[in-house]
Amino acid sequence: MLSSRTVPLGQRTPILEPEEYADRFSSTVTNGFIALEIAIGNKLGLFGSLNEFTSPVTSTELAVSCKLKERYVREWLGCMSAAGFVSITPDDKYFIPEACKPHTESSKLASALPHVAANTSSVLECFKEDGPKGYDYSNQLETLMWLDLDNKLCDSKWIDKNLFPVGHKEKDTISNVLDFGCGPGSLTIKLAEHLPNAKVYGVDIDRNAIEKAKENKAKENIPNVEFVLLENEHLDESWTKKFDWITMVDVLHDLPNPNLSISEIKRVLKDDGIVSAIDPCVDSDHKMNQGNLTAAMLYVFSTFICLPCSMSREPAVANGIGWGVQNRAEFLKSKGLKILGDEHKGLLQFQKA
Ligand SMILES: C[S@@+](CC[C@H](N)C(=O)[O-])C[C@H]1O[C@@H](n2cnc3c(N)ncnc32)[C@H](O)[C@@H]1O
Repeated sequence: MLSSRTVPLGQRTPILEPEEYADRFSSTVTNGFIALEIAIGNKLGLFGSLNEFTSPVTSTELAVSCKLKERYVREWLGCMSAAGFVSITPDDKYFIPEACKPHTESSKLASALPHVAANTSSVLECFKEDGPKGYDYSNQLETLMWLDLDNKLCDSKWIDKNLFPVGHKEKDTISNVLDFGCGPGSLTIKLAEHLPNAKVYGVDIDRNAIEKAKENKAKENIPNVEFVLLENEHLDESWTKKFDWITMVDVLHDLPNPNLSISEIKRVLKDDGIVSAIDPCVDSDHKMNQGNLTAAMLYVFSTFICLPCSMSREPAVANGIGWGVQNRAEFLKSKGLKILGDEHKGLLQFQKA
């Protein structure tokens, strides 16, 4: 998930000298283009296939293994070898050195680029003084599906380590779980598998996401999970004090009306219930993010996806990822919530104060 791209805060670097500035600027632009080719390699399985070959292959052998046209694959290989990510033998065969293969894993992140970039014309309009305020996820199912890919990999061990309120809740005391802003629902389904004696609800404001989630549920055949479309931002009236545990993964900073959503979440949370929110970490103070390239990358997601979502409907609070960890903590406290543990971490656990 996006929030796992978090780096420790406060790693501010000094202002760049002009020469370094020039180098960083031009290499960033160059690398941006190369990253798009990396995205293609990930999506078409070219890295996966090259990693599986145990000896160098021709462009034709690689193309055949991925069911692709050789001419295009050869162009891709030209780019990747020029960039240094694919090596070539004297007889023109291609390979990735064994020790380098695991590092092609980063191509997964690059594969988000086409989805992010698909919003370019919309976000350009939003920037304009007289343009629209924002847009939600209704035209971004592919982005949601991309985010959901990581969720499919979350097993029980991951949930215990990264999401479950260990030390605050025992698994067997949990009867009802709410995954708020569940997207296409893979994590919700994993939560239901993790807690087979609980009933797990996934809610989202996006119709396409809930339809996908229902399809996923049908495929997985998990009985204790249910997906509900939020027609407005209000949760079911009958859910007051129903939930022992509420999860919000990559949602909090997206909310256009966090006041209302958090009030609703408080209403449906049991008095001893816990909320586990995973949210990206950047500092609320721009100065403290200087030189933090992971923060810079998160801001790209925010500009193209999160900020427009947080501005997509009134009161359009416009949080986005730039809201930052300090503002986020202040907001939650102002809503009568008590943060358990470190409020600067990607995982925030909180309960009613
Ligand atoms: C970045 S996605 C995260 C989806 C999922 N939790 C995951 O980890 O893949 C944010 C989700 O929050 C949903 N969302 C945004 N505003 C919402 C609101 N007011 N109420 C419920 N869901 C909302 C979006 O529709 C979207 O599916």
